[in-house]
Amino acid sequence: EIQDICKTNINLRCADRVMLVMGQFETLSFEELFDKTYELPWEKWITKDGKFTVNGKSVKSKLYSTPDCQRMVKKAISKKLCEYYDTDWMPETGAEFTILVSIHKDIATISIDTTGAREGLFKRGYREKSMAAPLKETMAAALVKLSYWNKNRVLYDPLCGSGTIAIEAALIGRNIAPGLNRNFASMEWPLVKDEYWKNEKIEARKRIDFDSEIKIYASDVSEKAIRIAKENAIEAGVDDCIEFFVKDVTHIEKPMCSYGVLITNPPYAERIGDEEQLTKIHKKLGQVFGRDKTWSVYVITSSVNFEKEFGRKADRKRKLFNGDMRVDYYQYFGEKMPE
Ligand SMILES: C[S@@+](CC[C@H](N)C(=O)[O-])C[C@H]1O[C@@H](n2cnc3c(N)ncnc32)[C@H](O)[C@@H]1O
Repeated sequence: EIQDICKTNINLRCADRVMLVMGQFETLSFEELFDKTYELPWEKWITKDGKFTVNGKSVKSKLYSTPDCQRMVKKAISKKLCEYYDTDWMPETGAEFTILVSIHKDIATISIDTTGAREGLFKRGYREKSMAAPLKETMAAALVKLSYWNKNRVLYDPLCGSGTIAIEAALIGRNIAPGLNRNFASMEWPLVKDEYWKNEKIEARKRIDFDSEIKIYASDVSEKAIRIAKENAIEAGVDDCIEFFVKDVTHIEKPMCSYGVLITNPPYAERIGDEEQLTKIHKKLGQVFGRDKTWSVYVITSSVNFEKEFGRKADRKRKLFNGDMRVDYYQYFGEKMPE
């Protein structure tokens, strides 16, 4: 249903973007790609003044030249629209329709980006400023979702940078939809009516949990990082859930409570350029939080020595990609919190 475009864009926390699949078919020649693209109902979605750009990718396929595939798809859509609107020229001055032709093993999937080409779903609208190497908001939300944290437990990020993990956890705890405060490309599409967006936002606002007591701590050695993180939390409307403070993680003596959940993203060796300091940070995390059986610890890092330096093999390790960087998510499960 068309309303699902609004529902998914407003509510999905970990997805990159929401694509509307127009068609999927086998394609072994440019002629076939043209004909099958032409047959799809473009006129249903793209307006007479619609601005449509075609992006592409091709993997293990006969049609391997991506620019040629893009050109062919653009040509087919233009022909279809020019015929439908009875014109020989599309001005392309109106709403944005970014089309993706993705060919995998000779199967083409053609879709329109409902989110917006420039601003994937990671753009929540609260992070005006960030420190170096911030996590994408969608990735931070995924780290929280992959942990056993829930709003009744304390969460702590001792290397919080611009505060992304803490803020995403607070949004999850308060059940605040991540897309409430931003726009999407499909808001300009006539078929996706304004009232659909309005209704979805009303429903999302009704689901917000304003009452739960949520306790999240976030610290960093950098005063500037903490200042920025606080501003971001205020912008996201969750500053009442998070206590920020300046602290060098290597100076932490003991956890602030029992049964907490630590989720963090230490500096990358490649960026910090100081292996010794990084080892000290990993060791400290192990000594303070790893040894406390009531704490669960989750660390995302590209450092291959992490487990050794932390002092224990992870209960579970997940391979992830942080942008293009291959990283591991080390998970140490603490004891269950008593009821
Ligand atoms: C990879 S960044 C974290 C990015 C963060 N997840 C975000 O989304 O913005 C690592 C952070 O560790 C902080 N840091 C480095 N050494 C530290 C130390 N000894 N104690 C506390 N924080 C430290 C840096 O200031 C930086 O903000």
